[in-house]
Amino acid sequence: MPTPILEKESLIPGKTSKLVLHAPAIAGHARPGHFVMLRMSPTGERIPLTIADTDAEKGTITIVYLVMGKSTAILEDLKAGDEILDVCGPLGKPTHIEKKGTVICVGGGTGIAAMHHIAKGHSRIGNKVVGIIGARNKDLLLFEKELASFVDELLISTDDGSYGHKGLVTDLLRERLESDKDVFEVVAVGPVPMMAAVANTTRPYGVRTTVSLNPIMVDGIGMCGACRVTVDGKTRFACVDGPEFDGHKVDFDELRRRLGAYRDQEKVSIDQYRSTHGN
Ligand SMILES: Cc1cc2nc3c(=O)[nH]c(=O)nc-3n(C[C@H](O)[C@H](O)[C@H](O)COP(=O)(O)OP(=O)(O)OC[C@H]3O[C@@H](n4cnc5c(N)ncnc54)[C@H](O)[C@@H]3O)c2cc1C
Ligand code: FES
Repeated sequence: MPTPILEKESLIPGKTSKLVLHAPAIAGHARPGHFVMLRMSPTGERIPLTIADTDAEKGTITIVYLVMGKSTAILEDLKAGDEILDVCGPLGKPTHIEKKGTVICVGGGTGIAAMHHIAKGHSRIGNKVVGIIGARNKDLLLFEKELASFVDELLISTDDGSYGHKGLVTDLLRERLESDKDVFEVVAVGPVPMMAAVANTTRPYGVRTTVSLNPIMVDGIGMCGACRVTVDGKTRFACVDGPEFDGHKVDFDELRRRLGAYRDQEKVSIDQYRSTHGN
């Protein structure tokens, strides 16, 4: 149903924005790990975006997106006061959260916003939360302030060393796993290579590792098969069986290949949109 945009904040100009939507029915049921499917025009595709935060009392949900192609470019053209044609959710299985001790939540790029909701769930239940976030440089880091307000420790890395540790989130993760034997789970949300690297880092330590997969989705409700991923040698549909899975069992190479399957068509689509909308 048409969903009003209450607030829009540009987090990285032209690249990443945060929207607060008035969606009381979704806000009342959404839990960490859930996502929504959005459609911006009657002839357009539906795209999945993670619910980065909710406020059940105000009836709002927050989404954060990276402008990738045509659908996210259309979203970026909307402003506070506009409506999104339809927003469907909450979808997917929520994150499994139980009180067990120390959890490390790792976020990269736009995935930091999605990780934030999961980290908040762990914090609320009483787990000790260590946040590790990384980006190419300081200007691309998201949600530092929001995370710092509730996590027990926040570790930061940038590829170019412009802020925090110079290097990758996996350097910080490895150091932490060496010194802290109380970690019961690592959760990673971000680009596929980052989640694969996190799973490789935790494997020798035998720590449970949960990753949030982002395959191409069409319906988001388990009917079309577009989002199939292979986990432990078995086919799973990320929209209904996930999107979170055991990172040690995911076939990341297949996921990477399938994500690139329509690259030529996506380029034509965004080029045509930009040529008619002048941005
Ligand atoms: C469960 C889930 C949660 C997600 N959460 C977020 C989020 O919180 N923030 C965010 O920025 N992105 C998120 N994504 C990715 C986001 O859906 C895609 O970036 C978006 O669909 C791109 O659409 P586009 O038309 O702008 O780009 P396009 O040019 O169509 O595609 C650019 C790339 O995005 C991916 N993509 C394209 N269409 C889809 C689709 N229908 N479903 C999934 N991926 C697609 C492909 O890798 C493609 O190569 C999530 C994906 C999933 C599956
Ligand atoms: S998106 Fe269609 S089955 Fe998952």
